[in-house]
Amino acid sequence: MSKENIFNSATAELMRSIPNLKWDRYPDDVIPMWIAAPDVPIAPEIMKALHDSVDEMDMYYNADKSTREVLAGKINEFNKIPVDTDDVMLIQGVDPSIWLGVKYACKPGDEVIVNDPTYHAFTAVLPAAEAKPVSWVLDREDGYKFDSEALKEIITPRTKLIYLCNPHNPAGRVMTKEELKAVADIAVDGKITIMVDELWEDIVFKGNKHVSIASLNPEISDLTLSSWGFSKTFGVAGLQIGYMATTNKEMLESMQKAATGVQRGTSTLGRAAARVMVSNEMDYWRKGMMDHLHKTRAICSKRLGSIPGVEFPMLEGTYVPFPKFDLGLTSDELQEYILKEARVAISSGKGDGEKGKGHMRINIATSESLMNEAMDRVVEALSKL
Ligand SMILES: Cc1ncc(COP(=O)(O)O)c(C=O)c1O
Repeated sequence: MSKENIFNSATAELMRSIPNLKWDRYPDDVIPMWIAAPDVPIAPEIMKALHDSVDEMDMYYNADKSTREVLAGKINEFNKIPVDTDDVMLIQGVDPSIWLGVKYACKPGDEVIVNDPTYHAFTAVLPAAEAKPVSWVLDREDGYKFDSEALKEIITPRTKLIYLCNPHNPAGRVMTKEELKAVADIAVDGKITIMVDELWEDIVFKGNKHVSIASLNPEISDLTLSSWGFSKTFGVAGLQIGYMATTNKEMLESMQKAATGVQRGTSTLGRAAARVMVSNEMDYWRKGMMDHLHKTRAICSKRLGSIPGVEFPMLEGTYVPFPKFDLGLTSDELQEYILKEARVAISSGKGDGEKGKGHMRINIATSESLMNEAMDRVVEALSKL
């Protein structure tokens, strides 16, 4: 398969021949567009790194310093955050880093700023720290703008953490430098920790630019824990690898302590893949995937946007648009109806916060032919309502 074709290569037959939850969950006549994993085979460069690692028998206890060194290089060059090798910690994915960030910043009763809508895993970890979520609303009518005035109004002496997701799942926004600066000023003023999930940093559509909040100045850098992974760009969630970094030595030490005995970084195989995934060798992949996603975004927005009662927001980042359906059904009812009637599996936005109600999440990281077929079926089903 040529490198150009790989992103448009998914067929139901191909994806069902690869073991994966997205395609395994539903019967064979269903097109699955629910979980945020891309329909694309694993990159040959990653496969080679894994095979080489097995051939070298890299499975003993082995230091992770060389991997952290490579990741620190990427964080300096791409994210413009001045970290050293020892400022980087490996972890099994972005989700576990969220737990560590909350554990670091919060004592029972502390308040945490969380967007509404939000990535559901974030609020899910707050009860473990007995921390209280405080909603910072992103309004669809306002283009999901990150309103710093609204943020100031909900900050109290008990606010210890602001959770950011940039690019934002599910709102599909890529935060502008001005928005980030405003949040950074508020955090520095109140000495509030920022936990930023930048897992979607590669999935940014034309006209937008990803900026890491920790790159803005040394003060905000020392208050910020940044976290990254590979599951969205490369479809390697099964390798269970992510990494996080901060220029604040005390913060990293505290998290290493909290992680002792519970999490030990990632496997030697995951590390081998990580070293390749952040290298320039994969620049063609990052570019090719974005070129392709512009096409599937256009198909989805044109088809859904033409249905009365459906609002399709302009997706700036991520490949999970979050359209609003005003068709007299709740999100759960609509999910069930589309599954039954169209045989397409999409996700209810109900779990994404109060503002997620009436919304659905649709994964557009698939081939044009599967995207078209799914849209044909969904549009026909909705026309019967
Ligand atoms: C915003 C966000 N953070 C974290 C995750 C999970 O990441 P990982 O697989 O690296 O744990 C997801 C998965 O969809 C996500 O969308």
